[in-house]
Amino acid sequence: MPKIIVAIDGFSSCGKSTTAKLVARQLNYPYIDTGAMYRAVTLYFIQNHIALTNPKETGQALADVHISFRRHPELGRNDTYLNGLNVEDEIRKMYVSEKVSDVSAIAEVRHALVAQQQRMGKTKGIVMDGRDIGTVVFPQAELKIFMTADPMIRAQRRQLELMEKGELVGLAEIAENLKMRDHIDTTRSESPLRQADDAVYIDNSLMTLDEQVELVVRLADEQIGLSFRREMNKA
Ligand code: DC
Repeated sequence: MPKIIVAIDGFSSCGKSTTAKLVARQLNYPYIDTGAMYRAVTLYFIQNHIALTNPKETGQALADVHISFRRHPELGRNDTYLNGLNVEDEIRKMYVSEKVSDVSAIAEVRHALVAQQQRMGKTKGIVMDGRDIGTVVFPQAELKIFMTADPMIRAQRRQLELMEKGELVGLAEIAENLKMRDHIDTTRSESPLRQADDAVYIDNSLMTLDEQVELVVRLADEQIGLSFRREMNKA
């Protein structure tokens, strides 16, 4: 069967990554969490005291940032590596979340990461989630999803996620951080978060995870069928 690109965009903590991961498993495609890539750059900038307002400094620092993903042998999850070190847990912490939107608004950062993401999807057969996948990284993606959920539900989901990792953070602080990130993500000049014209809008506030995954897999199957028919017509 032909391979397609599944691009899933949307706000922070609306269940994109969880859905994308499970969809990828069902389609037997690799999954790329582009938020993790922006988080890894942020961690590097924090650790190396890089001044975000100095383009020369950020540009030079970027040359030293190498991000990759490797499968965790026991947990089966795709872990993020920064310069050869597993940073999967560190990049999810609050101090990284507080800075990540500022770092991801820097044009040089976006250009470098978008180029790497486009290389990863060159041969298609990939599920990628983020903020600009359907609009900038793969505007030609066969399936684009724009996912959202009620802000309070998103904050509760994020709190639970942090709690499972042993980080106790109040709901108000999380809601405030999400609000701030939504604002920066949607108003930045460089590829702001917006729904692509041809994206399918999904508000999952009242949906179970199974329902979301089923819906996206069904939409992906339809697109795979369409691509197949197009290829047959060409032959
Ligand atoms: O999905 P996440 O919350 O882990 O993403 C972290 C931040 O990275 C988010 O605040 C915005 C940014 N991001 C982005 O600008 N573009 C992407 N494609 C993915 C994430």
